[in-house]
Amino acid sequence: MPDWKLKSNNNFGHFLCRYYILLVIHLKNVISMAKSRTIFICNNCGYESLKWAGKCPECGHWNSFEEVEKVSAGSSQKKPSSSTIPGILSEIKFGQQEDRIITGMRELDRVLGGGIYPASVNLIAGDPGIGKSTLLLQLAGLLTRKNISTLYITGEESLHQIRGRYERLGLNDLPIPVLAETELENILVQIEKDFPRVVIIDSIQSIYSSHISGAPGNVGQVRECAARLFRSAKENNWSLFLVGHITKEGGIAGPKILEHMVDVVIYFEGDSLYRYRILRSLKNRFGATNELGLFYMEKEGLKEVDNPSKLFLSNGQISQPGTSVICSFEGTRPILGEIQALVSRSNYGVPQRTVSGFDQRRLALILAILEKHCGLNFGFQDVFVKIAGGLRIDDPGIDLGIACAIYSSLTDRPLQDSAVYIGELGLNGDIRPVSQLDRRIQEAIHLGFRHVYISSMEDKNVRQPQIIRIRNIREIIQPPKSGNK
Ligand code: TYD
Ligand code: MG
Repeated sequence: MPDWKLKSNNNFGHFLCRYYILLVIHLKNVISMAKSRTIFICNNCGYESLKWAGKCPECGHWNSFEEVEKVSAGSSQKKPSSSTIPGILSEIKFGQQEDRIITGMRELDRVLGGGIYPASVNLIAGDPGIGKSTLLLQLAGLLTRKNISTLYITGEESLHQIRGRYERLGLNDLPIPVLAETELENILVQIEKDFPRVVIIDSIQSIYSSHISGAPGNVGQVRECAARLFRSAKENNWSLFLVGHITKEGGIAGPKILEHMVDVVIYFEGDSLYRYRILRSLKNRFGATNELGLFYMEKEGLKEVDNPSKLFLSNGQISQPGTSVICSFEGTRPILGEIQALVSRSNYGVPQRTVSGFDQRRLALILAILEKHCGLNFGFQDVFVKIAGGLRIDDPGIDLGIACAIYSSLTDRPLQDSAVYIGELGLNGDIRPVSQLDRRIQEAIHLGFRHVYISSMEDKNVRQPQIIRIRNIREIIQPPKSGNK
């Protein structure tokens, strides 16, 4: 037999053999993946993967994958429910404004968009100790007083602890139903026994479903528990308040999908140095976002703030160098605030830029505009700017006020007495219009301010005597005569 034939046969045999082994390995992988009872979910965006990865391919977050048990989508023999049949939009009954439950806590009602929307799921997140449990127990008290059936479920505290808070809040004549339970199935049985109109669960991270493995608070548990509560609330027409923990970075703990799922996301914020607390809506399917609700934390619980603008203005101190008054629009109402700036010669290397209450990059931008268009020089100056009272504002309409406060501190001269500055700064120094100008002006005049600086681009119909229109920042800010080097 010729030698070459034998060789080629051998090669062919090897090739087949190798191919076979690869095929077997591949099939094994496929079968094991199909059999695998767990998947990995990205904590940040909810991306699902069969394998763990250090970086999420969807959102780019590092170390965000958590292993969770797969949840079956339910038996295929289940009968279709009536909601699978299409309906005619115009004929569908929907929650009217009058169907909302008015809690009587004005600031909470405002943040919710005018009371609790029927069958809504509301997530309230905040730092530990900020007052979430206090707020919701007060809410339970108000609803019980109004004969609106409510169930307060605690997964974190004992009934004894709740009782202590109940005494402290002076609710001791109200029969508020309370349940200390962490297992979702028991919670649902309890809810579906009496169907209260409002259910409060403190917190979503403390409850777990016995149908899936994993400790309470892990991505899979939070996702599954929230989804089942959400479904029950929508099907049975009860409203849910969920407390959510927040992470070190300030985001809501657990999967991002939780925020997508719920109807309303509210942050409860505050500062340990200040007595007041702010409810801020970040998402609201039934009302305005960025709405603020203001409270004081007192010995007897949370009290509402009557006039938020007064709260953030330090009476009588406004005519000092380095301060200006701004008017921001938060959600559906204007709020006056005070900007405090300190510009001082820097003694060490790189000058400092420190802000509190707004984005640091905005300060860099405003300083660049002041340098370029007004001839000021901050190359050797430390600049510190804060919004007084711990208020946090994202509205660009406060730019003009920030620029004026910085100028005032730099020149060591107070700004015009009794003035409010409203306007966004354009890169070429233009003063740009802002939203809801009328309401802002009204609020400023209502609080007794005699001059309101606005953009000359604003609607010509705004004609109060207090109005001063400016086109460019140069019109009110010029380099000091002695120069500032
Ligand atoms: P809490 O509602 O337990 O916070 P959270 O649920 O967000 O963790 O509130 C805790 C803080 O509030 C605690 O530091 C004590 C304070 N507090 C008061 O000042 N007055 C009160 O009437 C109550 C009930 C709490
Ligand atoms: Mg609590």
